Amino acid sequence: MSQRILLLGAPGAGKGTQSGKLADKYGLEHVTTGDALRANKDMETDHGTPREYMEAGDLVPDPVVNEIVKAALEEADGYVLDGYPRNLSQAEYLDDITSLDTIAHLDVDEDVLLRRLTGRRVCEECGENYHTEFQPPAESGVCDRCGGALLQRDDDTEEVATDRLGVFRENTQPVIDYYREEGVLTDIDGEAPPDEVFDDIVDVIEATDWHPPAPENVGIPRHRAAGLGYCGLLSPEMKDNWLCHAAVTPLLGMRTRSDLCRLRPEFQHRTGVSACD
Ligand code: AP5
Repeated sequence: MSQRILLLGAPGAGKGTQSGKLADKYGLEHVTTGDALRANKDMETDHGTPREYMEAGDLVPDPVVNEIVKAALEEADGYVLDGYPRNLSQAEYLDDITSLDTIAHLDVDEDVLLRRLTGRRVCEECGENYHTEFQPPAESGVCDRCGGALLQRDDDTEEVATDRLGVFRENTQPVIDYYREEGVLTDIDGEAPPDEVFDDIVDVIEATDWHPPAPENVGIPRHRAAGLGYCGLLSPEMKDNWLCHAAVTPLLGMRTRSDLCRLRPEFQHRTGVSACD
C-alpha cells in the first residue's frame, strides 16, 4: 500500500518545501489545495471566486476545497497532502474519504513565520520556492532550476500574511490540537534547516507501522520467505529480479517494488534477515 501522508503547519512552516521533496522521494502525488486554488483563482463557484478569499488571507469555503481534495485523492495512489484540512469540519470530511498513515506537524514560531512569508519568492515558471534570506537563489531574482523570474505571492505582503496567521490560529490550530490529543500526530522542529526537517519527517514516515509482517507472522518459514522474495528486498543484485518481486509483492500485500526496497534497513532491523539468509 502506498503512503498517505499529511503535513500540517502554519503558513510559511515549510509544508510546500517538504511535501515536494517527499513526493519525489516516495513517488507520491503532492496534493496541495493552495496550488490548486491559485491555478483556479477565477473559477466561478456558488460561493464566488477563490481569489476574493485568498487575497484577503481568508479560507476558501469548505464545499469548494472539499471537492478539490476528494477528486485529487481519488486519483492518487499515495499522496502527500499539504494545506488541508484547515478547520475541524474539513478534518471530519477528510476522515470520511480516506485514512492516513502519517501525520506530521511542522512547528515554527510566529515571528519566524512572518519573516519566511514576506521573504519568500516563487518561480513563475516551475513553482520552485526560494527565500531572500534563508534560501537565496544563486542569482538574485532568477530561478536556479529553470531560469524563470522569481516573484512574491500576492498574499505574502506583511498585511495579508499577518491575517493568514490569525486565520491559522483560529481555525487550523484546533485541528492540530485534535490530532495531537488523538495521539496520531508527530511534532517536528520546523525551524531546523530544511534538510534536517526532511530527515526528521522521513524518520517518522519510516517508523510508521505499515511495513509488511515479518515472515514468521505470515506463516512462511523464515528461510523460505527470504529465498522467495525477501532476498529481492535485501540484496541489491536481486532487486532487479522481477520474479523475486512478483513473488514477494502479492505475498506481502505490497503494490510496488519501491514499497519493498525502501523497507530494507527497517526490515533488516526487525527481522534480522540479511542478504545472506
Ligand atoms: P497555501 O498556498 O496552502 O498557503 P499556506 O498554508 O498559507 O502555506 P504557505 O504556502 O504560505 O507556506 P508553506 O508551509 O507551504 O511554506 P513554504 O514551504 O512555502 O494557501 C494559500 C491560500 O489558499 C490560503 O490563505 C487560503 O485562502 C486558500 N486555501 C488553501 N487551502 C485551503 C483550505 N484547505 N481551505 C480553505 N482555503 C484554503 O516555505 C515558506 C518560506 O520559508 C519559503 O521561502 C521557504 O524557502 C522558506 N523555508 C521553508 N522551510 C524552511 C526552513 N526549514 N528554514 C528556513 N527557511 C525555510
